[in-house]
Amino acid sequence: MSDLMTDPIEIAPDTYWVGRRDPGGIFFANPYLRVFRQDDGGSMNVLVDPGSSSDFAMVQTKCAALIGSVKRTHAVFINHQDPDVGSVVGPLFARFAPQAKLLCSEDTWRLVRFFNIDKSRYICTDPFVERGMRLPTGHHLVPVPSPYCHFAGAVMLYDPETRVLFTGDLFGGLTAKDATGLYADESDWAGMRAFHQLYMPARAALQYAVAAIRRLDPLPEILAPQHGRVISGEWVEHYLRRISELPVGVDLLQDRNASEDQLRAWTSVLRRVIHTSRAYLGSTAETRLIDDPDLAPCLEFDESGVRVVQLGKWALERAVHLLTDEEIPAVANAVRYEAIYAASELDLPSPNIELAEEGEAAQVAANVGDFQLHH
Ligand SMILES: [Fe+2]
Ligand SMILES: [Fe+2]
Repeated sequence: MSDLMTDPIEIAPDTYWVGRRDPGGIFFANPYLRVFRQDDGGSMNVLVDPGSSSDFAMVQTKCAALIGSVKRTHAVFINHQDPDVGSVVGPLFARFAPQAKLLCSEDTWRLVRFFNIDKSRYICTDPFVERGMRLPTGHHLVPVPSPYCHFAGAVMLYDPETRVLFTGDLFGGLTAKDATGLYADESDWAGMRAFHQLYMPARAALQYAVAAIRRLDPLPEILAPQHGRVISGEWVEHYLRRISELPVGVDLLQDRNASEDQLRAWTSVLRRVIHTSRAYLGSTAETRLIDDPDLAPCLEFDESGVRVVQLGKWALERAVHLLTDEEIPAVANAVRYEAIYAASELDLPSPNIELAEEGEAAQVAANVGDFQLHH
């Protein structure tokens, strides 16, 4: 078995993780090396998100083992300009790789040039977004913009041959102390969720990026983020779905500043929703909420019933989703109306809840005016 401390790890053909993992650490950067081989024995070597000087000795050692020397780097791609992504590019270009080029978006370039990189080294990826770029070796790379994930000009990089998508901070996360190996599983969710809620500005940006990923042809088989662990196989779809459902950043602004009174009011709304749901779900209504790992930090249950302890609006939306999604429209709408009506009655921010109509889902701008209109 490979040792993360000393070995590069091949995550796909000619695609290597060349990072550093300190024992007991929980937050790591992931640099990757992609080697495009030519028939004549030559190659084009592309470093993706090479990181900062703190990891560079390790990157250098692992690259040397693969391509002889980091000096044989022909190009560096960076997702955005953060120091953990590419602050080493300045010294790398100045000292080791005087011919190498830097591939990034123009928005990223405007800032990354402050790492002391000459403009002659820069290749803008923006013109290649639609059709991809053809490398001198004949291979293709496709820049895939992921605006506001988390930088406005963030761009992912897709390698359609290996079906590896380098996603930058998107799908990155903290790693559990006792995690072993390079591949993500269920245990990565807590750290990924926390990282996205800290660094991503809005769920709309996550959903935009996930939609762009779903349009890729062929679909990616591996997501290679700049933090956390590599997502592969069945976990790709699993984490695409989970990330696109996650409220982050401004989605949580109102909820973060909720007073005790507001949380008490959310508790009351949720109890009314559970009460209505019991009519058709019986006692399984509560079980559905207790069993949901994402609701666990928001709700407490005791003999008097449920209590909302944080993120009230989001917790109510999530609960309504869990209680109604599989139900026929008439039943689902009764519960959804109850949630919308109870929240407005208690002067809470309106939850985003879709009402099903004649087999179609209609988005209700859930304010009282709209509510009365539909009632
Ligand atoms: Fe970043
Ligand atoms: Fe990062």
